[in-house]
Amino acid sequence: TSLGAGKVKWKAPSNIALVKYWGKKAGQIPANPSISFTLDACSTTTTLGFVPRNTPSDEFSFDLWFEGKPMEGFKPKIETFFKRIEPFLPFLKAYHFTIETSNSFPHSSGIASSASGFAALALCLMDVEKLLNAETTEAYLKKKASFIARLGSGSAARSIEGDLVHWGSHDGTIGSSDLFGIKYPYEVHGNFKNYHDTILLVDKGQKQVSSTVGHELMHDHPFAARRFDQAHENLSKLKSVFKNGNLTEFINIVESEALTLHAMMMTSQRYFILMKPDTLEIINKIWAFREASGTHVCFTLDAGANVHVLYPEEEKEEVYQFIQNELVAYCENGQYICDRIGFGAKKM
Ligand code: PMV
Repeated sequence: TSLGAGKVKWKAPSNIALVKYWGKKAGQIPANPSISFTLDACSTTTTLGFVPRNTPSDEFSFDLWFEGKPMEGFKPKIETFFKRIEPFLPFLKAYHFTIETSNSFPHSSGIASSASGFAALALCLMDVEKLLNAETTEAYLKKKASFIARLGSGSAARSIEGDLVHWGSHDGTIGSSDLFGIKYPYEVHGNFKNYHDTILLVDKGQKQVSSTVGHELMHDHPFAARRFDQAHENLSKLKSVFKNGNLTEFINIVESEALTLHAMMMTSQRYFILMKPDTLEIINKIWAFREASGTHVCFTLDAGANVHVLYPEEEKEEVYQFIQNELVAYCENGQYICDRIGFGAKKM
């Protein structure tokens, strides 16, 4: 099929891992499986315009706009991405693409936009493939979009579906694959419906060590093998927790995973610390409040200083009060984002 000029548009969410992905093999294959909550408010919206090119070329042709401004600085990343995905999307050189992208969260907030960004772009590209091949089903489009997004940024494979997404081969999870994320296929207790994630922006600066470098440092890491096994074990434990709704056990796994991620950073060669003093202040406040209130608030961390405060729907008033009264003071310029579990990417 040939296709004239056109435009597609997708909005893809960010996600927060509960069992963390840290360490990978060649071809963006994760060293261990991971699982995440899909977010709702934090998202990237991308419009992909395409125009057929008259003369065949060996080069990709695209221009890139971020929040209305040309984004030259990001072009090499997209170029690398296109090279990686071309074997799976052979039409890429036949079109000139205009990529226009914007985030729902503030620029340089320390919130990674790579997951939602690559997911939105992958979905747009899959939509073009669907226009070229009418037999492409919705299920295939999403599965392959996750596969393509993974080649941009590993965690982007988990930003297509909702509300819980599993990525990486795991004995206990039917249909799991290293190549793409799947919607968590088992029963989930009502306790986890509508879970909240308030993201405290502790440090909006550029990270000193990128996640690309961090993943690489797991190669000669003294604790790598044990860590990868532990992730498998934690996933199996979480499976029971999702079924029986045990929030205490949930907290134990999720907080341990967050601290283990940072412990891997602190024990790699070279070693580094992405937490800030206020990250630790917040963690201690959360522990003290949980003890005193009997609520089930807990934290998780990404590869940065920001803290994700997780809590169930039934406790939202009490925990939100606590966040306002005691935690917002530690946020840079008092900034935080109220998010919750979301249900995946949407065609716009
Ligand atoms: O998607 P990447 O390659 O930027 O890796 C990010 C990994 C963490 O966000 C730190 C953990 C995770 O599982 O999302």
